[in-house]
Amino acid sequence: MQRLRTRQLFLALFTAAGGHDLPAQETPLEQGAGKKPPAPATWHESIEPLFQRHCQECHRPGGSAPFALIEHADVEGLAPMIAEVVAQRRMPPWHADRTIGRFANDRSLDAATVATIVAWAKGGAPAGDPQRAPPRRSWPEPWSFAAPPDLVVTTPPQAIPAEGTLLYQYVHVETGLAAPRFVRAAELRSTRPELVHHVLVFLDEPRAGRDAAKPAAESPAATPLPTLARPWRPAFNQLELMQGAKPEEMPRYFERLQAMIRRDLRHGEAGGLNGYFLSGLAGGGAVTFAPDEGKFMPAGARFTFQLHYQPNGTAGESSSTLALWFADGPRARPLDTRAVATVAFAIPPGAANHEVTAECRLPVAASLRSLQPHMHLRGKDFTYIARHPDGREETLLHVPAYDFDWQHEYRLAEPMELAEGTVLRVVAHFDNSAANPANPDPSQTVWFGLQTMEEMLIGYFEVVWKPGE
Ligand code: HEC
Repeated sequence: MQRLRTRQLFLALFTAAGGHDLPAQETPLEQGAGKKPPAPATWHESIEPLFQRHCQECHRPGGSAPFALIEHADVEGLAPMIAEVVAQRRMPPWHADRTIGRFANDRSLDAATVATIVAWAKGGAPAGDPQRAPPRRSWPEPWSFAAPPDLVVTTPPQAIPAEGTLLYQYVHVETGLAAPRFVRAAELRSTRPELVHHVLVFLDEPRAGRDAAKPAAESPAATPLPTLARPWRPAFNQLELMQGAKPEEMPRYFERLQAMIRRDLRHGEAGGLNGYFLSGLAGGGAVTFAPDEGKFMPAGARFTFQLHYQPNGTAGESSSTLALWFADGPRARPLDTRAVATVAFAIPPGAANHEVTAECRLPVAASLRSLQPHMHLRGKDFTYIARHPDGREETLLHVPAYDFDWQHEYRLAEPMELAEGTVLRVVAHFDNSAANPANPDPSQTVWFGLQTMEEMLIGYFEVVWKPGE
């Protein structure tokens, strides 16, 4: 019954016209640009366009980087450092092994662009002729898209003390959405971002009574849309979080988890261990989906925000705002962000290369869209492998030097079709030795936990489920 309805929905989706593109978010970060001969490059003629394309997204006033790289005066004094970070590929930040997979949001520079920038910086970073400068690149405000959002929800301000380790806060926000919608693009911003460790947004499961409740006022432009059944998604088996534990170890893991289950894992998608609706993670920004795809919101949708703050010495207040852009049509392919995870591991003190793995079997065929590894400070490397039903193994993503400060979502350049029964496996290594400069304490046994000095192993993945195929 459920399957039949879903099948009909999918048939309708595949024949429906796609939504409309948002105004281009920005020049795509395509590769292969700037293949000009390395010398005699000058800022205005050769380098400024490259920085507009590859750096200014973050290095501008209001961007996520601590300084701007816009004027020649901004870059001149930094030239040696720019040469170094570009040559070492620390900037632009991109942590995937470039020989595996192709990603739509790949920020890495091709070899020719690296050579051009390095040669210019080492050659004294000459300015060149201002007459030949490209037009200044502009950035929409207050959001990354020029089009106004269709729905904006904000959490009440939360007080953050100057010091201490904070538990996650959970805040419920009603959307007042009158008709079901597909989210086509989203952006999450927080005030006082330096106090925000992360924000995950969960879509609450509809409860009897609430969904039937009052159709609240939506934006006036919205025309009522037919009610859509919630897209099918596989059920979550919490026991999978224990994978890897030997039977005799189960009690000690359960014992450790008790408080977390009562307090955190009952919220949203097991507190984030099973996925999320949308996220505001370090290194993230606005997210856009393909024009005919989106995250489904039922009428009367309610969000739970999971807010994690990091005190930095001065007490403050922060609120988070989620802006959503909807697909024009009522139908789109529904995207689901889920996770492969385990909480059953203990990393011994000093272990330099402790392996933890987890896997899940896809209960139906799925079309894969993105991958997002998540670990904490001891995270060293992370690999996703698909084991196809015929036994063939394929590496989807390899992050050789994981960096907690950059929680990239790696969006596949092309969707990848995975058959029913495919096993998605993640293999991670943790460095709990003193040689890991990020390690807060190599003398501790490190367990799964919500705080940064504890560890996590989560492989988020985003798919379109294809039940019945
Ligand atoms: C996605 C955002 C982003 C992009 C794109 C980006 N940067 Fe950065 N950059 C940052 C952030 C955040 C920092 C500060 C934190 C850090 O060093 O990781 C930074 C730091 C730097 C630093 C200082 C490094 C240090 O060791 O202190 C330099 C130099 C730099 N960036 C140059 C560049 C150049 C050149 C480009 C383009 C080729 C670029 N960045 C692209 C976000 C970005």
